[in-house]
Amino acid sequence: MDYISTLIIEKISELMSRTDTNIQEKIFVNQPTLPELPEFISLLEEIWESKNLTNMGKFHQELEKQLCEYLGVKHISLFANGTLALIAALQVMRISGEVITTPYSFVATTHALKWNGITPVFCDIDPKTYNLDPSKIENLITTKTTAIVPVHIYGNPCDVRKIEKIADIYGLKVIYDSAHAFGVKLKNESILNFGDLSVLSFHATKIFNTFEGCAIICHDEKTKKRIDYLKNFGFADETTVIAPGINAKMNEMQAALDLLQLKDVTTYQYLTNLGLELYNFNDITSLKFEDFIKHDKFSPNDNEKKYFKYSFN
Ligand SMILES: Cc1ncc(COP(=O)(O)O)c(C=O)c1O
Repeated sequence: MDYISTLIIEKISELMSRTDTNIQEKIFVNQPTLPELPEFISLLEEIWESKNLTNMGKFHQELEKQLCEYLGVKHISLFANGTLALIAALQVMRISGEVITTPYSFVATTHALKWNGITPVFCDIDPKTYNLDPSKIENLITTKTTAIVPVHIYGNPCDVRKIEKIADIYGLKVIYDSAHAFGVKLKNESILNFGDLSVLSFHATKIFNTFEGCAIICHDEKTKKRIDYLKNFGFADETTVIAPGINAKMNEMQAALDLLQLKDVTTYQYLTNLGLELYNFNDITSLKFEDFIKHDKFSPNDNEKKYFKYSFN
């Protein structure tokens, strides 16, 4: 934390000492954040010593516990990356047929459906939020529809209450692609607590990264067990396989790194927001991303969207 704080203070002091507003140097909005290397090396030494490299070891278990507390959710299952987790999440919920989703996302959202032999049905987005427009969902529901897969794009929460209402009426599952929504809250409640499952991503481009990594959030012990089995080849114990699983476990090295990242995540979020402010300061309106830049304009619901995934993809 001290190391990162020092960086922030240095950057702010440097900016305050300038009189010009036309800063020429590069200011990154999306540079990967990393802990101090010696701290990580010390955890690596522990791993080398224990020879415990994967299979839900000590660091994996500790990280699941700490993430639950930090994010305010009940159950978390760590994964190797978000794409594998999305593929597994659809299996966990036994989704088939047609799924209503958003065309405005990273390719992994739709690819996860295709890898499960599911037909994606694209629903239009709300031009103000770029999230799936709930008022357009009902027209797309057919006898084959089994689920809705919305995305909290750039960390801006979907209209979860309207989506939940539609899902309840038609008996549909809801799996949120929450790849951009680490730490995002809706009136003090984690956005990850909505829907049947939420899938985060800890990819290097995200505010909270483990190089590659991910977590699925669920609400009960039974579902958590099914997720854990499916991400580990379908093993329920050493001799019982309950379903055709996949190998999508997070390893001990990723989990150890993430424990360090978690100590500094608030600062990382602050750094990202600072990056945004610096871009505003630089007046890069020529990029025509004004709506992205002004947070309040971008969040028309009563959402508290603290941590913004800023992207020029
Ligand atoms: C919206 C969205 N969904 C899913 C993914 C896939 O996550 P991962 O890169 O961890 O596989 C990403 C990746 O960046 C994403 O932006």
